[in-house]
Formats: sequence, structure tokens, C-alpha cells
Amino acid sequence: MTDKKPRRSSHWYGKLDKDGFIHRSWMKNQGFPDHAFDGRPIIGICNTWSELTPCNSGLRDLAEGVKRGVWEAGGFPVEFPVMSLGETQMKPTAMLFRNLLAMDVEESIRAYGIDGVVLLGGCDKTTPGQLMGAASVDLPSIVVSSGPMLNGKYKGSDIGSGTDVWKFSEAVRAGDMTLQDFMNAESGMSRSKGVCMTMGTASTMASLVEAMGMSLPTNAALPAVDARRMALAHMTGKRIVEMVDEDLKPSDILTKEAFENAILANAAVGGSTNAVVHLLAIAGRVGVDLSLDDFEIGGEIPLLVNCMPSGKYLMEDFCYAGGMPAVLSELGSHIRSAKTVLGGDISAYAQGAENYNTDVIKTFDDPVKPAAGLRVLRGNLAPNGAIVKPSAATDALLEHEGEAYVFENIEDLKANIDRDDLPVTPDTILVLKGCGPKGYPGMPEVGNMPIPKVLVQQGVRDMIRVSDARMSGTAYGTVILHVSPEANAGGTLALVKTGDRIRVSASGGVLELLVSEDELAARRADWQPEEPHYTRGYAKLYIDTVLQADKGADLDFLVGKDTRLVTRESH
Ligand code: FES
Repeated sequence: MTDKKPRRSSHWYGKLDKDGFIHRSWMKNQGFPDHAFDGRPIIGICNTWSELTPCNSGLRDLAEGVKRGVWEAGGFPVEFPVMSLGETQMKPTAMLFRNLLAMDVEESIRAYGIDGVVLLGGCDKTTPGQLMGAASVDLPSIVVSSGPMLNGKYKGSDIGSGTDVWKFSEAVRAGDMTLQDFMNAESGMSRSKGVCMTMGTASTMASLVEAMGMSLPTNAALPAVDARRMALAHMTGKRIVEMVDEDLKPSDILTKEAFENAILANAAVGGSTNAVVHLLAIAGRVGVDLSLDDFEIGGEIPLLVNCMPSGKYLMEDFCYAGGMPAVLSELGSHIRSAKTVLGGDISAYAQGAENYNTDVIKTFDDPVKPAAGLRVLRGNLAPNGAIVKPSAATDALLEHEGEAYVFENIEDLKANIDRDDLPVTPDTILVLKGCGPKGYPGMPEVGNMPIPKVLVQQGVRDMIRVSDARMSGTAYGTVILHVSPEANAGGTLALVKTGDRIRVSASGGVLELLVSEDELAARRADWQPEEPHYTRGYAKLYIDTVLQADKGADLDFLVGKDTRLVTRESH
């Protein structure tokens, strides 16, 4: 042992008394020898593997890679499961359970005798949930991501997770694609283990984790089934043992500068709008003062990564072009100085990086789009903010005034969106209520509501949509999201009526409901909150305590951390 102070794990396994006997003896039923308990660092491998989270179904293999590295470095690896969140499988939305996963991770790390932890995640909510939980205990921690699926293939062309589902679905509704072709594309879209291979939320979060220095370089883009990802897991296992001896914790890495690097990287990669709520929530755990306004620093960063949904390539192409090291290199002096899991500065991640395909990773001089970062909108319709992703939007719609057509909730939308007599034009602004954190509950990815069938049949493929929901990182369109406060918390959104005029200016950061204050006051006096959809259990706790989107939608009592050692024994 090189530590001056006793290891955390010694409070479990280093005692020569009844408690030490119990802790060691029951672990030995798995065949671990005496020397596994000789004071070496005990490394938890926090695994979100599940067959119901197909994106994370390769994590058992990667855990074996991590274990090899931990043993090689003189540590003792112990794998444990935590709740897994399958984005495509859970109802009403995996986001409802992100904070539950974070609680599971936090309490598992705190309760067990480990000195450091490797976080194995991938699918959208698993990465932020794990980071939130780990940050609240603040043991040395490092991320290994699932990695993206291989490129989707259909009829000789590449197709992208999510992005092409939305496109194909609209094509079927417009009569441009047969249902048979639609069904045939299913298996070609998901050809290997791994996360969505578009720059959706999973690859966005993996990219931002790398830009924040919470993983080893190249973690974001290596395909899930690339042997180099297994080697990366091995190297991560080696590194976490060293991090324990260096006492290098998330609070040393996740500084304000690291979050700013994540925001800059998010703009450059055309990352998901979901990064906003996740970064805000993680920052809340480590005590970094991050607000929606901080996201403005990405506003002038050009879109460099030409991946769907903002561009045309996929994550496999991004990997072969150079991945995040090449992006960090291109961002150059924009990147702030910040420490990484390697102990040095983030600039080291870009050292020696090369861009092997400048059509996939563009340059500042020749970007996919200039000034592509997320825009924050405010006004009486969103006093606490809303966001829009210009890189995935139609430029002409980013400055617009139009009449609202209002859906009171998701059921209203589903029942009416395909009506032949829906009174909408391409200038209409669709408004959807009841999809915020408290309302749905869980703030689902329904903000990119479908284009009404009457307009799809006229060839309309984009229009302004406003809601308190989120949208999938794989989605696109002129979609204004995360309106705060949400309708079910009594936000102005609750008061919008069909026929009201709304003004949007992305350049000016404006989202205004053009209705007089007197009229809004009269409507507010009549407004009644909806009955909650859940009345018990975790979902009730969530509805009662969830913060609004501009605060990261964490539960109010989970913000912050508690790094104290648990000293009481169970026997
Ligand atoms: Fe899991 Fe996209 S659904 S990463």
C-alpha cells in the first residue's frame, strides 16, 4: 500500500474482528483468495448491463476487460449491477427513472467497501444517471461507454438509428414509402451491440464525458464491437487503480471549466439537446454553478462533426475520421484547461490527433454549419428558459411569428394530428402541453411532434413546435423544447390557446406569447392543475420533488453530495 491514510475498503475488509470476518468470509464463497483482501484497492464495476437495455448488452464483455486491467494493476475488481434504463423499451419514458438510477448508483457505491468505481453505461440515461450518483459520493470514478452500433444498412445505403426512423415514418404517412419497406428496414438499422450510431443522446453524452476528461481518450466513438474498445476497458481498469492511489476524484475533474468544455464540444459535434438537462443535473451534484445561460458559450462554435441528425455520417465514420481527439484538436484554444482522469490537462487528449476525413470532421474554416450551438430562448412563454438546436432546424423558421395550434396533452395530439380537417398551415406553431417533468411525468422525448398529416401530404417536413418536453438526440426539426416552467407547474405554456400568436427569434433569444398581461391573468385565474398520473411509489416521489428542466430535472433532495464514510455495521 502506498496510501498514508487507510483505504476506504479497509473499513470493510481490513478488520481482524467479527465484522471483518463477515465481510471477507462471504466474499470468499466466490473463490477469491486471501490476498484479494491484502489491502489492495477494491474497484467496483458499476454495470448497467441488461437485455432490456439492448444498447448496453455488450457491457458484460467490457466488464471482463476492466477486470483484467484492475488485476494487472494490483487491484481487486468487483462487478455489481444497478438499475438499467432501456431508452427504447421503458414506459412512460426512461427519463422518469434517470434519478432513480442515480440513487441506486449513489447508495450502492456508498454502502459497499470499494475504493474506486468504473461506470459502465451507454444508453441515453445510463451515462448521466451513473455520473450523478458517483459524483454525490465522490470516490475516484471513470467511465467506459458501450460504444456505438455499426452503421445501419438498408438497400445499399447507410441508415441511422432514430433519425431514419423519424424520416421513414413520415415517408409512410406521406405515402412515399411502403409499410413493407418500413418493416424491412428494422433489422438493418440495428446490426450489432451498442448504442444508437447517430449523434444521439448516448453518443453525445459519451463525447461530452470524453471532453470533460471523465473517460480515457477515444471512448466516445470506438464501435461497441471494435476490439479496441475491449482494450480501452482493460486500460481503464489499470488506470482506476492508479486513480485510487492518487485520490483523483470526480470533484477534481468536473470543474466549471470541464462543463464549459462539454458545452463547446456539444456545439461542435451537433450534440443532443438532452445534454442540457444532464449537464445541469451533474453540475448540481458536484456543486458547480452551471445555468442555462452558460450554454450560450457554445452559440458561436460551428458544427464540425458531420453526423446525423445534423449531418450525414454515422459514428463509425466519426471514429475512423479521428473521433473526439480530432474534434478537441480542432477546437484548439477554445478548450479550457481542466484536469482529466489521466491526471494531466485535457489538452493531452488532442495531442497527436489527426483528422483522417475532413468531410466527416470539418474544420473551423469550412464547417458543416456556422454558429451551431444550442440557443436559449426566453420571454413570457418561457420565463426560466427554453432551448432550440439550430444545427437540426430549418434556418428560415428560426425567426418566425405565427398562430398557435394547441394540443392539451399527448392523447389530444395522438387523437388529432392526422385529422384531415386540422386547421394548420406551414406557418402554424404547434404547441404541446403536459409533457414536462411533473406533467407526463418524466419529460419524454415527444417534443418533435409529428408534422400534421394534411401538411405532410403537401410536402411539409418541418414547422415550429413548442413544448415542455424533450426530444430524442437523433431527432431534427425546428423544435423548441424544455419550456420552463412547464404547463403542469403553472407555467405560461398552460395558458396558450389555439389562435394565439407566438413570436420566435433564435438570434434574439426570444419566445413570446403575444397575449396581453390582463388576458393572461384572467386565464391563470381559471387554470386548474391536472390530476397527477401516478399516486404512489417512486413516480409520486418524482412528481412531488422534481426540479424544472432549467435546473436539470433532478430531485430537489438529491442535489449536492455526501462523502462521509458509513461507520455503522449491520451486525
Ligand atoms: Fe439506447 Fe439510443 S436507444 S442509445
